[in-house]
Amino acid sequence: MNKITAPDISGLKGIKKISMVTAYDYPSGQIADAAGADMILVGDSLGMVVLGYEDTLSVTMADMLHHTAAVSRGVSRALIVGDMPFMSYQPSVSMAVENAGKFLSKSGARAVKLEGGFPFLAQIRAIVDSGVPVQGHIGLTPQHVARFGGFKAQGKNARSAAALVDEAKALEEAGCFSIVLEAVPDEVAAEITAEISIPTIGIGAGPNTDGQVLVYHDILGLFDRFVPKFVKKYAQLRGPSIEAIKQYVTEVETGAFPSAENFTSMDPEELELFKTLLHKQG
Ligand code: KIV
Repeated sequence: MNKITAPDISGLKGIKKISMVTAYDYPSGQIADAAGADMILVGDSLGMVVLGYEDTLSVTMADMLHHTAAVSRGVSRALIVGDMPFMSYQPSVSMAVENAGKFLSKSGARAVKLEGGFPFLAQIRAIVDSGVPVQGHIGLTPQHVARFGGFKAQGKNARSAAALVDEAKALEEAGCFSIVLEAVPDEVAAEITAEISIPTIGIGAGPNTDGQVLVYHDILGLFDRFVPKFVKKYAQLRGPSIEAIKQYVTEVETGAFPSAENFTSMDPEELELFKTLLHKQG
């Protein structure tokens, strides 16, 4: 099966809606790929939904490469996008190029995503020039949670909305192959989508984007610390998972598990011989 590439994703604008979902390990990568997602984002949301941090700021390059490599081992079709963590690209252009390259050379990703627009155009241009496809990400960019004063929707007034449109155009001009729009009003997302020729991938940005992205644990109802308005839970797996493990714990305690079908016994002749050998040794 041919792997989807970044140019393939760019070519889908206006042809079909693009689906992207996050994954963080081998089984979630396998499941997202088997479900037919076009892109799998190994998001730095890893920090919150898998590593249990309050926000994404503590996630390191080592964390991201480790988890992206695990996802890659489970994916045969989708485009894998590695999310550049906080302070892996902000300090300098050379650091950005070096770290973006590591996603391709060490983890199997075939594109990177980085948060922010105008302040990072130099980094984006240099990464693209080095041969690494870049997905932009504007609107609510969780790595700026300290500056925003929380996880707050962006572009809600006319000026900030117009600035987002300009920022999206600048990202396209810098060479991004697509752009994530997070938590922006649907009118702003629709305007950006109409104004640029690369696909927009929305999360909390309404129906008029070229595609959608959601976090794996949110879709499956596995994460309940907080659930943003834009999340749709397609399953509620946390409760059944707890119930299943509870049942296992009870069965271990009562001796109901393991039962005959869960283990292997020796052939009677071999068992006799085994006993004889033990007897001789003893
Ligand atoms: O880290 C992440 O999962 C993301 C998506 C929510 C877009 O950036």
